[in-house]
Amino acid sequence: MLTAAFFHIAQHPNVLQNLRLELDPLMPNQITGHKLAELPYLNAVIKETLRFCPPALLLLPRWAMDDVEIGGCIIPKHTSVIVPNWSIFRDARYFTQPDAFIPERWLDPTFRLEQTFGKSAHLPFSTGIHSCIGQTYGLAQLEMRLTLAYWVSAFDAVLVDPNSSFEFEEHFVLSKAHCRIRAYPRDMTYV
Ligand code: HEM
Repeated sequence: MLTAAFFHIAQHPNVLQNLRLELDPLMPNQITGHKLAELPYLNAVIKETLRFCPPALLLLPRWAMDDVEIGGCIIPKHTSVIVPNWSIFRDARYFTQPDAFIPERWLDPTFRLEQTFGKSAHLPFSTGIHSCIGQTYGLAQLEMRLTLAYWVSAFDAVLVDPNSSFEFEEHFVLSKAHCRIRAYPRDMTYV
């Protein structure tokens, strides 16, 4: 997730700029987990990264104990069901411009979220009693917020190949990301 976030921040200088507008007033001594949780743009970047490059491409299978109807679809008893996060997150029925990295979609109510059911289709940690415990107790979010906040504050970054895209291997989880980023101490990019 963090590699994907670093890549897309390097690819979108406006995203870096917006993150710094939020983070600079807190740096270096006022960073706490609670304060980071209240930063709308930082959390929008995290949500968008989890949508665009979900670490769990598929959710763990569920087993139907009985015949069940979900959304008009009959699932027969003893069927194994898998939720394909990747496909849902890139589906234009749920997210407008699904193949674009746009953190603002999580902030702007006019982004047709209501019409596209984007919020309820976004389940990178799954849902229910076996959903990710890292989310339930906030550890995953804390790690992502802290690491991104310090990265963005400390480094300017550019893509080694500006035309490259974020590539990875598709297993059950997103793995072996291939991307090349050149990072510099902040404000020294062209020194
Ligand atoms: C961005 C980071 C993370 C993502 C996207 C993520 C996502 C997921 C997903 C999709 C599941 C499967 C849930 C299901 O199929 O219902 C899961 C399960 C789980 N995750 Fe995470 N996870 C992340 C970080 C963490 C961290 C940091 C921890 C530990 C502190 C953690 C602990 C667990 C555990 C223990 C389960 C199994 C829960 C169960 O079966 O009851 N995860 N996670």
